[in-house]
Amino acid sequence: MKRYQVGIIGATGMVGQRFAILLEKHPWFEVKVVAASARSAGKTYEEAVSGRWAMTKPMPQSMKGLVVLDAVQDVEKIATEVDFVFCAVDMKKEEIKALEERYAKAECPVISNNSAHRGTPDVPMMVPELNPEHAEVIAAQRKRLGTKRGFIAVKSNCSLQSYVPALHPLRKFGLQRVLACTYQAISGAGKTFERWPEMVDNVIPYIGGEEEKSEQEPLKIWGRVENGVIQNAVSPAITTQCLRVACSDGHMAAVFASFDHKPELEEVKKIWADFSGEPQKLQLPSAPKQFLHYYEDPARPQTRLDRDTEGGMAVHIGRLRYDSQYDIKFVCLSHNTVRGAAGGAVLMAEYLAAKGYLD
Ligand SMILES: NC(=O)c1ccc[n+]([C@@H]2O[C@H](COP(=O)([O-])OP(=O)(O)OC[C@H]3O[C@@H](n4cnc5c(N)ncnc54)[C@H](OP(=O)(O)O)[C@@H]3O)[C@@H](O)[C@H]2O)c1
Repeated sequence: MKRYQVGIIGATGMVGQRFAILLEKHPWFEVKVVAASARSAGKTYEEAVSGRWAMTKPMPQSMKGLVVLDAVQDVEKIATEVDFVFCAVDMKKEEIKALEERYAKAECPVISNNSAHRGTPDVPMMVPELNPEHAEVIAAQRKRLGTKRGFIAVKSNCSLQSYVPALHPLRKFGLQRVLACTYQAISGAGKTFERWPEMVDNVIPYIGGEEEKSEQEPLKIWGRVENGVIQNAVSPAITTQCLRVACSDGHMAAVFASFDHKPELEEVKKIWADFSGEPQKLQLPSAPKQFLHYYEDPARPQTRLDRDTEGGMAVHIGRLRYDSQYDIKFVCLSHNTVRGAAGGAVLMAEYLAAKGYLD
């Protein structure tokens, strides 16, 4: 595989820092450019993140001296220096939409963690194990944008990263109704306990916009490519409540599901154990060997114990049982800034590279 030069747009933020760690020794991708707001531009990466490095691993030596570019002013310069960019910025939705289109139109593919383009019908929102075929819409998107190489592909919201993979292989039973309550870590808000002391010993029962994303985005992931756009699935009916909890990393979900045909519990566990996708088949560098891990111990999965298994790229499931109102219920967990954000985006980029979309 050729080596790709990449840029991280929003490199100083929580997700950007996670990209820095994940790309440090990546066999295919090499970080050539880091960019952020005008506040950070002109500083070295080390200076720009000084006092707010939030990762447990140290800052990659190779990135410390990179001079941070301005993500908005330097689009054309960045586009000429890299093969594609990862993007995770905290800006207004319309500004992000326009910024990502500018990169794409400058012939620089954008692999995005932002929500701005998740609703755009010809922008694939991919979990590579679940819907890799959605990459097909890139041809239609390039036509709309008038580009040869440039396009935008997005990562889904971190809240649904545990329960959508767990439900995905069960859809053959006719998945009808889903209720999911999520318990989300503070890194999902770009925060640490030092920077958000009010979260110590606390639960906040509201995360703006999260429930809408958690209910609507699965329907795009389960949609079909038709005439150059993704037609969203019309079922299952999904309802959610999303809570912020006093946990550093790892989003947990308590899930209830009903089907046309109620599955046996052992059958469900076997389906989870056997489930794998294109990333496993292609042996992509960031693919977990076992995507869905099931725990018989009723006290698992736990955020601290299990979120980092398989480099934070696996999904963890436990407490599967029958329910009195729904057919089955279970809990699940995924690392929100790894599989739910930067790691999921890196895996998507690996898939797109393996299929030639980034050449
Ligand atoms: N945290 C998660 O688990 C998670 C998961 C999935 C998706 N996301 C999404 O990823 C994005 C970033 O999240 P985050 O948690 O990493 O946020 P964050 O820690 O607040 O970082 C925000 C980044 O955006 C940059 N930025 C802010 N305003 C800008 C501007 N006007 N122009 C250019 N760059 C600007 C910041 O640069 P400066 O340092 O220079 O201000 C910083 O690099 C958001 O869209 C979020 O919804 C986050």
